[in-house]
Amino acid sequence: KYSRNYFMPPVKSMKWSEKEYITEAPAWCSVDLRDGNQALVVPMNLEEKLEYFQLLVDIGFKEIEVGFPAASDTEYAFLRTLIEKNLIPDDVTIQVLTQAREHIIRKTFESLQGVSKAIVHLYNSTSVAQREQVFKKSKEEIISIAITGAKLLKKYALETEGNFTFQYSPESFTGTEIEFALEICNNVLDEWQPTATEKVIINLPATVSMSMPHVYASQIEYMSDHLKYRDNVIVSVHPHNDRGTGVADAELGMLAGADRVEGTLFGNGERTGNVDVVTLALNMFSHGVDPQLNLENIPEIIAVFERMTKMKVSERHPYGGELVFTAFSGSHQDAISKGIKWREGHEDKYWTVPYLLIDPKDIGREYEGDIIRINSQSGKGGIAYVLGQKYGLDLPTEMRESFGYSVKNISDRLHKELVPKDIYDIFVKEYVNIE
Ligand code: KIV
Ligand code: ZN
Repeated sequence: KYSRNYFMPPVKSMKWSEKEYITEAPAWCSVDLRDGNQALVVPMNLEEKLEYFQLLVDIGFKEIEVGFPAASDTEYAFLRTLIEKNLIPDDVTIQVLTQAREHIIRKTFESLQGVSKAIVHLYNSTSVAQREQVFKKSKEEIISIAITGAKLLKKYALETEGNFTFQYSPESFTGTEIEFALEICNNVLDEWQPTATEKVIINLPATVSMSMPHVYASQIEYMSDHLKYRDNVIVSVHPHNDRGTGVADAELGMLAGADRVEGTLFGNGERTGNVDVVTLALNMFSHGVDPQLNLENIPEIIAVFERMTKMKVSERHPYGGELVFTAFSGSHQDAISKGIKWREGHEDKYWTVPYLLIDPKDIGREYEGDIIRINSQSGKGGIAYVLGQKYGLDLPTEMRESFGYSVKNISDRLHKELVPKDIYDIFVKEYVNIE
């Protein structure tokens, strides 16, 4: 009668909860052009991928998964264009995905000819469900696939010019018994023998998020504490958002020991998406931590994102949504306008304006019109604020109440929002052009 999922229990350590805050940015890896792109109704064409890549570079991503070059001609051609046209900045490392099959690994390295450096990302599926239902393989056989892939990466990397970093993902990690996930990753690490100068990445995806965020964090902590060569391993998280907890998974994953986060802009990605890097980064920013990404002009980032993905950032999306710095209700408007006024002369203090998590200006949003909008829910304070901001009219206190009611009633009757010009016109009609 009900859909009880086969989820893993939490690992009983949970030291992560002793840490209070995230104090520095992780290494970010954008997977927009791979995980994000593969989930689009119409995947990006080559030109669109090039424009999106430039956006990611401008934002400041230093690691960008550009695709699965052995999987499609567009992905292959895109990678070749990046390399042949010299479009990869020196401080950016591209990443490519491959399965653990020899012809795919061979083609992946062929697509990388001429690159100066790259991360080669190997994965195979490890969960109970995938082993039983899809691959019909034993644990030993699944380990053997990973080891064979790891050996092949080493072999082809030696035969190809360039600096290659290896990454391994036990795909469907969150549906995998934790001891088995550790065993398979340690087998791969034994093949790669990471050192301080040649680190490798172990990426632990919540391919499908199946549990509460503290469970994922406990799994990350267990892996981080027990992986071999830990000092030479970069532990990476790759949450999806099936339970709506992608951001919480990544945040607790970082507290639990992860050094790196893979995600996408505005959470585009398979099904409910990958973790949203914009929200994660600005959550850090709101705690005074430099996220090391340039999100100073969110409207411009949204414009490119929407044009390339043909999707809309929802009005309620944290930080980016059109309505998230807007207040309609009277008490909120009153508090915001008082808060903004109070800030004049208190700019050296923490940002504390009520109802606004951060200063919208910090991410290229505007106060004017953007925050205080007027409809039938609005209050006299907000209405006076709009007249003041837009038309320089300082409405006397005695007039505010009756004028506020006039405006609210008109909005209620017309059943629509009133823009500042509408409010000004009402003001003129009621108090200036009295016939
Ligand atoms: O979600 C996932 O498991 C993936 C892997 C390929 C890392 O995208
Ligand atoms: Zn994924």
